[in-house]
Amino acid sequence: MSNIKIANTFHPVIDLIKNRWSPRSFFQEEIEQNDLDTILEAASWAPSANNEQPWQYIYAHRGTAGYETLKSCLVPANAAWAKDASVLVAAIARKTFALTDKENRTAMHDVGMANANLLLQALSLNIYGHLLGGFDIEKLTADLGLTTDQEPVCMIALGFLDVPEKLEEPLLTRETQARQRKALEEFTTQLP
Ligand SMILES: Cc1cc2nc3c(=O)[nH]c(=O)nc-3n(C[C@H](O)[C@H](O)[C@H](O)COP(=O)(O)O)c2cc1C
Repeated sequence: MSNIKIANTFHPVIDLIKNRWSPRSFFQEEIEQNDLDTILEAASWAPSANNEQPWQYIYAHRGTAGYETLKSCLVPANAAWAKDASVLVAAIARKTFALTDKENRTAMHDVGMANANLLLQALSLNIYGHLLGGFDIEKLTADLGLTTDQEPVCMIALGFLDVPEKLEEPLLTRETQARQRKALEEFTTQLP
């Protein structure tokens, strides 16, 4: 049985947001390049300061040398399950504005916006994404030949959902646990 973890919301949040979650059990199936291109283009339609679009996505399909390179940058605990993802992605931020060379203070934020678009577009194609902060940043920087102006933000595993039972504990429990969020009052303040 596939594992569906729909957010139990108090307010009428749209389905795409409610249905997105970060799985670790991926089914080994190829993502069509057309679908991947759609997902990456969706990312690019995110807003960004000055329309700078400071994102760069470096990716590889499973079965390629590039995939092995990206996988080798993950911490072992992440590589253990992300190895079944169809595509691995490194999301990179350009830290300065191209025109002025001045610092782009919101570059990381803007890549996050693009990543959110990417995840939602992927889900609309039944492809799940799992963001990964657990990777060796120095190794990724060296292996991808990044410049000092390029900051790795996170990595992303993309793929098709598989059954939770293929995971071992403690990941099996996490895969089926209900998703939790803080209550609105904990992170919002209405000014009088
Ligand atoms: C920037 C970032 C880094 C993350 N790093 C990891 C990671 O290294 N390993 C992992 O298993 N999950 C990682 N996650 C996934 C989060 O744990 C997950 O999004 C969170 O628990 C909420 O669950 P949900 O996405 O299923 O709603 C990361 C998420 C983000 C946004």
